[in-house]
Amino acid sequence: MKFEKSIIKTLNKRVSKRAYKSLEIESSKLRKIKQILKKKFTGPFGGKSRFELIDCGTNDPLEKRRLGTYGFIRGAHYFIIGILEQKEKNIVDFGYCFEKIILKMTELGLGTVWLGSTYRYSQFKDCTNLKENEYIAAISPVGYSLDKPKTYEKLISWGIGARKRKPWSNLFYIGDFSTPLTENMAGKYTTALEMVRIGPSARNAEPWRVVKEKKSNIFHFYLQLIRKLSSDNLPPMKQMDLGIALSHFELTAKEQKISGKWVKKNPNIDTIRKNLHYIASWIGE
Ligand SMILES: Cc1cc2nc3c(=O)[nH]c(=O)nc-3n(C[C@H](O)[C@H](O)[C@H](O)COP(=O)(O)O)c2cc1C
Repeated sequence: MKFEKSIIKTLNKRVSKRAYKSLEIESSKLRKIKQILKKKFTGPFGGKSRFELIDCGTNDPLEKRRLGTYGFIRGAHYFIIGILEQKEKNIVDFGYCFEKIILKMTELGLGTVWLGSTYRYSQFKDCTNLKENEYIAAISPVGYSLDKPKTYEKLISWGIGARKRKPWSNLFYIGDFSTPLTENMAGKYTTALEMVRIGPSARNAEPWRVVKEKKSNIFHFYLQLIRKLSSDNLPPMKQMDLGIALSHFELTAKEQKISGKWVKKNPNIDTIRKNLHYIASWIGE
């Protein structure tokens, strides 16, 4: 996906929007969005996903205002629906692809919010062209958000602690999980990691943990779980969060002309008793 503005600025600008103006998205912008969503999306590890823009309007004025989101979202007309095949196991890649779309919408001046659970699945399913072997993994409203957040939005945000982020020392490490990585130690990757830190996550849980190798720009990304789970049983939403982390890291590195690639090669760092699950590594210059 091509970004026309500074991605670092866009990453800093993005914030969840849950209340929208009745203002329609202009037809030229709608065309652009449809054009963006038309292409096939593949993540760094080959996971495929697709996205649809739907107008889930109803004639019931109250329902129209709330649109099957239990009142979490108000006034939105359009939704982006993230779709996966049942057999697609790579949810990290889905998160990676959907976040790029979210950021593109932010660049276009539109509001969004990831919705993984607070929406009525059946209502959105009825408005989407789902094939039999597909399901909706997550959705987002898209539109012009209100300039000032509504009281109920502030309450949700406060309830989740949405404005808070964990400090570097709780997220990033060097060598293994015993020594925190400081911004100085991260060198040219400081901004890329900072953009991981400010990313959105389900319930703002910030489950990403990163270990930098001591003598090289190799960064290992882990998922922090609350309790021990097998690798084929990882919570989908947390995997999406990790996909978001990978996309923020990579997009920032690219903008800063730092090259590198993603690999899946578990370095077998000691994670005993920490409920950490290895996801992927960035092999950077
Ligand atoms: C995978 C994922 C699922 C989410 N699901 C919901 C949801 O169901 N309902 C909701 O109101 N917010 C949801 N959010 C939004 C988060 O609560 C929000 O991103 C987080 O609190 C940080 O706030 P910010 O996006 O404003 O920075 C989700 C976010 C992510 C990444």
